[in-house]
Amino acid sequence: MASEKTKTKTQKQPAAENRAIGQDNFTEIGQVLAGKKTGAVSVRGWLYHKRSSGGLLFLTLRDRTGLLQCTLSRKTDTKLFDGIEKLQDESVLAIDGEAKADSRAPGGYELSVKSADVISAAEPDYPIAKKEHGPEFLMDERHLWLRDPKMQAMLKLRSAVMNIARDWLLKHGYIEFQSPIFMSAACEGGSTLFTVDYFGKPAYLTQSWQLYAEAAIASIGKIFTISPSFRAEKSRTRRHLAEFWHLEVEEPFQDIDGLMKMEEEFVSHICQTVAKECAQELKEFGRDPAELLAVKAPFKRMTYADAIELLKKDGVDVKYGDDLDWEKEKALTLKHKVPFFVYRYPKGIKAFYHMPAPDDPKVTLSADLLAPEGYGELIGGGQRTHDYKALMKRIEEEGLKASDYDWYLDLRKWGTVPHSGFGMGIERLLMWMLKLEHIRDAIPFPRMMNRIAP
Ligand code: 4AD
Ligand code: MG
Repeated sequence: MASEKTKTKTQKQPAAENRAIGQDNFTEIGQVLAGKKTGAVSVRGWLYHKRSSGGLLFLTLRDRTGLLQCTLSRKTDTKLFDGIEKLQDESVLAIDGEAKADSRAPGGYELSVKSADVISAAEPDYPIAKKEHGPEFLMDERHLWLRDPKMQAMLKLRSAVMNIARDWLLKHGYIEFQSPIFMSAACEGGSTLFTVDYFGKPAYLTQSWQLYAEAAIASIGKIFTISPSFRAEKSRTRRHLAEFWHLEVEEPFQDIDGLMKMEEEFVSHICQTVAKECAQELKEFGRDPAELLAVKAPFKRMTYADAIELLKKDGVDVKYGDDLDWEKEKALTLKHKVPFFVYRYPKGIKAFYHMPAPDDPKVTLSADLLAPEGYGELIGGGQRTHDYKALMKRIEEEGLKASDYDWYLDLRKWGTVPHSGFGMGIERLLMWMLKLEHIRDAIPFPRMMNRIAP
């Protein structure tokens, strides 16, 4: 049924099969809605909604740029009218007509239909027809839910954020570098490792590009990547994915102070540019672009010790040495309007590679960037231990097997230099920017403890 093409054309038009392929002669709906294209136009898209009133059909057509109201009078073409009236939601149409401004139409513009081709007639009972559905049902139907206008906005913003970030990094001299996904040792601790069978031996999916990046900086200097990282997160929180997109940076001859300066310039630039270029998408999620325009370097810096004192003052049950989990970061960031740093975390709660502070070896030269408004950690990073003996000591203290890190230790023997880097979760950034309740809505097909399909 669905693949059969219903012929409803009236005028001399190319066959529906031909109109289904190629980009020529079609106007995107956004062009019409922006008033850039009026008069005779051809549009193509999915039937989002349809209602008839008297002898008039109101069709809402969706493409990647928006929703357009199209009207067809029975008087124009009875056969066409009857054919389209029977169509189900999500059928695909190529429509020729006259576009004009009309204040009564939802987008301010309306297309009066002259002729149309049905490229694909959809089956009845579209699973997510416009009624209220619970989140788990929508997760099961994610492959269809992606067409929702809010999802469209999120997907566009995702693409924009990655491009803006990549563009800034390349312009500032960072080189893109790729590392393997299959790993033989942990970067971020054993508890969140995914084990896979690697030709009969256990291997792990990467948690971070960092260890390989530390090898590459001696070759190509300051570098970055944007790629997936994997964490077997056994707790079901609103901000943890099993697979997330990780933007990471590593830089030789860089200390913690310079790293924080770079991060605040970088994150401010992303926020400023998104505010200017993606205002429409932000508004779709109730984010006022002015709030992102307010994100400007330098960012406030707070030591971990001060953060603990602040939390205690606010009545949070916490003591020095505790990790700042979801709840604690929420309490800490709720009153803030822009991102800020928490730095100098104690040794016990940070990975082995973090450099102990020379003036106070209990704490590390680490820094997390926290998103405001209750969102919490966006970035984890810091200065690395570059001295061989000091790194060996940390590996022993953490009870790790030195032989797992043979090659990583080599880097400290030949040409080691002070260096620093960080990782930012793309979905964490989007979650905050779009004020999302749950991180799963910042990625098209989320992977979580209880979900691997679709
Ligand atoms: O703080 P993390 O664990 O740091 C690292 O992996 C470092 N090796 C990065 C580096 O220095 N190159 O993770 C970095 C960021 C977090 O701040 C968070 O934004 C994101 O990655 N992240 C997650 N995002 C979604 N789901 C998860 N399960 C995540 N775990 C970390
Ligand atoms: Mg972290």
